[in-house]
Amino acid sequence: MARILLGVSGGIAAYKSVEFTRLAIKAGHAVRVVQTPDSLNFVGKSTFEGITGAPVLTGQFERDPAGGAFPDQPRPAHDPIGHLELAANCDIYVIAPATANTIAKLAGGFADNMLTALALSCRKPLLVAPAMNNEMYVNAATRENIEALRRRGLTLIEPETGELASKGEYGIGRLPEPATLLAETERLLAGAQAEFAPRSLDGLKLLISAGGTREPIDEVRFVGNRSSGRMGFAIADEAAARGAEVTVIAANVSLQRNERVEYVDVGTAAELQREIETRFDACEALIMAAAVADFRPVEPQAGKIKKRGRESLAIELEATRDILSAVAARRRPDQVVVGFAAEAGPDLLAEAQRKLEQKGLDLVVANDIADAAIGFESTENEVVMIGADLRPERPPRGSKRLVAQAILDRLERLAGERREAGQTG
Ligand code: CTP
Repeated sequence: MARILLGVSGGIAAYKSVEFTRLAIKAGHAVRVVQTPDSLNFVGKSTFEGITGAPVLTGQFERDPAGGAFPDQPRPAHDPIGHLELAANCDIYVIAPATANTIAKLAGGFADNMLTALALSCRKPLLVAPAMNNEMYVNAATRENIEALRRRGLTLIEPETGELASKGEYGIGRLPEPATLLAETERLLAGAQAEFAPRSLDGLKLLISAGGTREPIDEVRFVGNRSSGRMGFAIADEAAARGAEVTVIAANVSLQRNERVEYVDVGTAAELQREIETRFDACEALIMAAAVADFRPVEPQAGKIKKRGRESLAIELEATRDILSAVAARRRPDQVVVGFAAEAGPDLLAEAQRKLEQKGLDLVVANDIADAAIGFESTENEVVMIGADLRPERPPRGSKRLVAQAILDRLERLAGERREAGQTG
């Protein structure tokens, strides 16, 4: 059950908002409605008042006989300011239909009626369902206004394509069906409520490396590898969603970033090493998903090596330091250290186990780089995880986000054990 505030603006689709209100109440929600003055040309106040059992407001100076309370709440003893009280009491503010004019006002931050004033004062999730004539929807002004709302974090439901209200017209602009609107409202509510629920990795300080290092040969060329950073970034997204405080050391990754994650960009193995080593003590868990160069050119050349007069070119490489082994060797007993193993062929498990033991890790996540359908640039992955009990765990093949979930389920157990051991030991 939630308190849904519904803002109705002046379009023919306002009749669908009546059905939306009815469905929402039937589903157990408490609904209050505000209307723009123009919308009264399409649906009268008394329709919504009859269905919700609460007064409908249009102007921001109108007195609210219910004192800003929803039908399931007692009326307050005093007369609060309507556009603040309703915004504070609701769990979600749905604006459907949102006409081109109302969207323009929302984008511009206007507060010239009850609906727009509430949008400015509301700190709950806002769901905006544009509905208008096709030409108005595709107009550059409307497109820009919609983009502005999206950038500010409002959720917009795309209108549907089909027959429009004006006779014979067909195009995009139809308000989705009331049941679809309600499903979208409930989806957003569930997400918002999950935000405040305690999460499984709440507050865990997690350091993740992702991507692939590049070791300069000269100022133009490098020795690199094919890692895209997708796996590390997927783990970061999933961990942030579970409440962890995530820092990603990203080696040459050009993927979308998550605003809940801190990113530090690096290029070479030496830079990655420096960032991991300075941040390791402050973290509770490290996941080394980056593909780190094992060798780098001994002497990177200044400028660009010219091919003129050369038949061949030999580049001498030297070994880099193994970052994971170095930090694992100095870790505290409460820290969890997870490594990856990129292996090709039948020795995968044996190699993963060797890395687990030699590098002193809690968990190795191994993937078979010989399988073209998974790993590197692909969006899917399939891994085998091996920990101290040496029992291989094989989560199902799937999106990197799905694999990230399996890795973090395991990390949760390990972090829990560490915390318990720390408390008793
Ligand atoms: N790793 C690291 N520092 C390096 C090389 C690797 O920290 N210089 C980390 C990787 O991030 C990964 C793990 O070690 O988590 C295993 O990497 P992998 O390339 O599979 O193994 P290597 O130790 O390099 O061994 P090999 O190349 O012989 O398989």
